[in-house]
Amino acid sequence: MERNSTKLVTKLISSYKSPSNIALVKYWGKKNKGIQLPANASISFTLSDLCATTIVEAMPCEEVLKEPSFMFQLNDLPKASFEPKIKAFLKRIWDNYSFLKSHRLLIRSSNNFPHGAGIASSAAGFSALALCMVDLQEQFSGTPLIDSKREASRISRLGSGSACRSMFSEPGVWGKTKDIEEACDEYAVPMTGMHESFKSWKDIVLIVDASEKSVSSTEGHQQLNNNIYAESRYLSAKKSLDLVLDALKKHNLPAFIHTVESEALQLHAMMMVSPMHYILMEPNTLAIIQKIWAFREETHLPLCFTLDAGANVHLLYDGREEDKIINFVENEVLPLCSQKQYFCSDLGGEPIKLNDIEK
Ligand code: PMV
Repeated sequence: MERNSTKLVTKLISSYKSPSNIALVKYWGKKNKGIQLPANASISFTLSDLCATTIVEAMPCEEVLKEPSFMFQLNDLPKASFEPKIKAFLKRIWDNYSFLKSHRLLIRSSNNFPHGAGIASSAAGFSALALCMVDLQEQFSGTPLIDSKREASRISRLGSGSACRSMFSEPGVWGKTKDIEEACDEYAVPMTGMHESFKSWKDIVLIVDASEKSVSSTEGHQQLNNNIYAESRYLSAKKSLDLVLDALKKHNLPAFIHTVESEALQLHAMMMVSPMHYILMEPNTLAIIQKIWAFREETHLPLCFTLDAGANVHLLYDGREEDKIINFVENEVLPLCSQKQYFCSDLGGEPIKLNDIEK
């Protein structure tokens, strides 16, 4: 991707809308070598209806820049607290993205769910930003990449690891695993062969706590370095991935439900047994889990919970049983949510490139 020296330096623009994702098998812990390489392989569904839209305008400048130059706005307002992560990301791609040396960036991002609602937005945000970066470099060099999505997945990982899985409508698999030959640590690949029945599954994000997490994921990953249970966790994650892949292919619901819930609890267990021992679940996180277990026991409906690195509960369920499940949520679960807030999403959307008219 070399800069064409005869090319006029012009303003470039790119915009993408990308979904967030929720992991079934969790990425928790990084390899000690390399940049943002996962200690274990993970798999996630994208959340089609919980998205970030990012527009990057690249303004040409006279001088050759020595480091990335950018301004960042979230919902049309500067957001200084996001700048260090974006700067680190741009520095990591600096050597291969030559347009960055001759353009100053205005990055404008917005989420279609309220910021501060406790839904992780970095996966959606870095997925969209990475796709814009690839597009801008292609426009600048005049040479399309053979696999731009793969490249976007690779570089989005350098901003936020889990972002690399927000690229496909199929479940995204990130990390080397014997089950999928092309899977690797550098970028995510789509899982093939998922049973049709999972295509109707959905997610309801139940907001227990809408405030910023007290311990960031960056810190959480680091805590694995001195966690005496880390190696056992990585072995267990390996088994979970085998089980989830198999369950997704064969529509083995008991195995799917058991493994997904176990993964959520293992993630939080690792926090509790880490050197700094912390808890991100809240009393109502547990109360909701117990409600879900009791409801499943009683109705045998296809549903399970999972958790991100926070207090909110993701209720995954087969959308074909939506009425009964929404009824349960509204009557029994919402009283346990902060301001009765929840967000529904289909699973399995992929990023969309936006035309000028939509920006
Ligand atoms: O991508 P990060 O660094 O924010 O880490 C995400 C970690 C989890 O969301 C807890 C799990 C996952 O695999 O998405």
